[in-house]
Amino acid sequence: MFVIFPTPHAIAEHLSNLLTQKIQNNPKAVLGLATGSTMEPIYAQFVQQAQQTKLDLSQVKTFNLDEYIGLGPEHPQSYYQFMQCHLFQPAGLSKQQVSLPSGICENLEKECVSYSEKIKNAGGLDLQLLGIGTNGHIGFNEPGTPFDSLTHVVKLSENTRLDNGRFFDDKSEVPTQAITMGIQDIMSAKEIILVATGRHKAEVMAHLFASAIHEQMPASALKQHAQIKIFIDQAAAELLPAEAKQAI
Ligand code: F6R
Repeated sequence: MFVIFPTPHAIAEHLSNLLTQKIQNNPKAVLGLATGSTMEPIYAQFVQQAQQTKLDLSQVKTFNLDEYIGLGPEHPQSYYQFMQCHLFQPAGLSKQQVSLPSGICENLEKECVSYSEKIKNAGGLDLQLLGIGTNGHIGFNEPGTPFDSLTHVVKLSENTRLDNGRFFDDKSEVPTQAITMGIQDIMSAKEIILVATGRHKAEVMAHLFASAIHEQMPASALKQHAQIKIFIDQAAAELLPAEAKQAI
């Protein structure tokens, strides 16, 4: 399950090759995408490779995991802007190809139902890319989220707001709520790749390895998925026990 790479760049190269092959084999691939620092080198590498190989992305569809409640797509810290800057704009993906849940619609309950349905109607996710929070969250599914959850509104934990404060001028500006795909939406993807890089992810990787499948550790749900891969760099693997490393 754990595949260890020397550096985040090595993960980015491997994942970029994998995404390119996937899209070459299936130009209508439906991709589930994440935001965050972990994804930045991966999208940068993929954009470069897509341009060099003249990869046809015109039929690809993407669905992002989450968005902050209260931040519209034009807000510089919105996840839409993150995706626009790191992937959509440089890769030439049009508005019609990409979806994020809306954090500013009037009827959030309706938005939740229709986002999960939109994914299903697109044929489901062929591949879901995930990062992981230091508390084990995937998407914004914080510890305690039911494994059968679909898209829903969440109150962000103080841990997550603190972690994400680095993207804002002041930590107090980090929204208190988000809308996120649920764990069931994520688990329904045909294939899942979780990426963790950096020493600050070493504790959560060791915790994930040791953890039983339990809702207090959201990422542990992934242990039940038949096609899950976890790509980590040396720094994030630092606290993994020897048997995990031997299993790689
Ligand atoms: C982002 C998301 C989050 C992040 C996680 C790790 O769309 O769903 O689960 O993947 O918080 O964030 P970074 O990569 O910034 O450490």
